[in-house]
Amino acid sequence: MSSERSFIMIKPDGVQRNLVSEIIGRFERRGYKLCGLKMVQPTRQLAESHYADLSERPFFGDLCTFLSSSPVVAMVWAGADVVKQGRTMIGATDPLKSAPGTIRGDLALVTGKNVIHGSDSCENAEKEIALWFKDGEVCNYEQVTAPWIY
Ligand code: PPS
Repeated sequence: MSSERSFIMIKPDGVQRNLVSEIIGRFERRGYKLCGLKMVQPTRQLAESHYADLSERPFFGDLCTFLSSSPVVAMVWAGADVVKQGRTMIGATDPLKSAPGTIRGDLALVTGKNVIHGSDSCENAEKEIALWFKDGEVCNYEQVTAPWIY
């Protein structure tokens, strides 16, 4: 199995709407390996660091205010092509343009409340993991392989 990792975050609306197990279940059932998981109430500074690349965008302030308004669930998932496949599972930024079957296409309606974030490249995934997780908080373990595990 590839060691590729992605940073996946259930944003405040996903936590408030009790969608945590629904979202985690989708990644588990797809076959990805959970390597890191924590609930965090992000500071404004952490939100601004996470979205630093968007600092010139008109929605930057509102996005950071929203992200730091309530707890999020920060996760590291690993497995084959998880960055690209994770984005496919998440769907388009605008939920109204997200296909049914995707997380946003099934669970969201509005861009500013689109439930989940997923890294857009392997390089950004590693940067985001380093931003959100301290050394020792991400587990590196072998999954048991057996004929009864799919
Ligand atoms: S963009 O607009 O081209 O940068 O689009 P994208 O790369 O898909 O989005 C980057 C993140 O910005 C969020 N976003 C918004 N938030 C609030 N309001 C508006 N209008 C808006 N447009 C984009 C989008 O959800 C992405 O955040 P994450 O957390 O990755 O979903």
